[in-house]
Amino acid sequence: MSKKVDLNNVPKHIAIIMDGNGRWAKKRMMPRGYGHKKGVSRIKHVVDDCIMLGIKTLSLYALSTENLSRPKDELDGLFDLFREYFTKQFDEMIEKGVKLVTMGDLTALPQDVQDKINNAVKKSEINNKITLNIALNYGGKQEIVNAVNRCVKSKVTVDVNSFEDYLYTKDLPPLDLMIRTGGEKRISNFLLYQCAYTEFYFSSQMWPDFNKTSLENAIIDYQGRNRRFGKVEAK
Ligand code: FPP
Repeated sequence: MSKKVDLNNVPKHIAIIMDGNGRWAKKRMMPRGYGHKKGVSRIKHVVDDCIMLGIKTLSLYALSTENLSRPKDELDGLFDLFREYFTKQFDEMIEKGVKLVTMGDLTALPQDVQDKINNAVKKSEINNKITLNIALNYGGKQEIVNAVNRCVKSKVTVDVNSFEDYLYTKDLPPLDLMIRTGGEKRISNFLLYQCAYTEFYFSSQMWPDFNKTSLENAIIDYQGRNRRFGKVEAK
C-alpha cells in the first residue's frame, strides 16, 4: 500500500522553486509564456492542497533578481500574468482565507503591478488560513547584504537570532522543506540564510505538471527524514 501523509507532522513552512515552465512549453512546441501561464494556474491548486494538509506557510519563488535580465517580451508576459493573478484570481484566494505577503524589491516592477500586489496584500492582511509568501525580484544574497547594511547603519550588534529580524521572513516560521521542480538540483539564490537546516526535495517534474500527488510525495519523503539539526539523536 502506498504511504500517506502523516497529518500530525506536516512541515510548518514549505518553499517551492517553480522551475521548468519554459521546458514544459518547449516540449509542446509552444512559447515560454504559455508555460508560465500554465505555471501560474497551478498555484491556486497547490495553495488549496496546502490548506487541506494543514500547511500554514508557503513561500513561492515567482521572480528572482536575476530573472529580471530575461528578454523584455518574456518579462512583459510575466508582468501581465502578475496583473491578472493579483487582481481577479487573488480575490478567490482571499475568500479562502489566504494571507499574502511578499519578499524582494518590488520597486523594480511596473508601478501598476506594484499597486495591484500591495492592494492584494492589504486586502488579505486579516486572513490566517495560510500565509502565501511570494518572492518577487528576490535574491537571497541581496536580502542578507541589505540586512547587514541596515545593522551597520543603525550601529546594532546582532546574533544569529536577532539577525533574523532584519530578513523578509522575520514573521514566518522556520523553513522546514524546500521543493524544486524541473530536475535541477540547486538553490538559485532562494532563502539562503533561512535554509540552514531545511530539508530539500528535488522533483524531475516540470512545474506545470506538479500536482497534489507530487506535493504529498514530497511531504511523505520529508516525513521519512531524520532531522537532527546538527545534534545527535536522543536515546
Ligand atoms: C522558472 O521556469 C520559472 C520562473 C522564472 C518563473 C516562475 C513564475 C511563475 C510560475 C509565475 C508566478 C506567478 C505568480 C503570479 C506568483 P523557467 O522559465 O526557468 O523554465 P525552464 O528552466 O524550463 O526554462
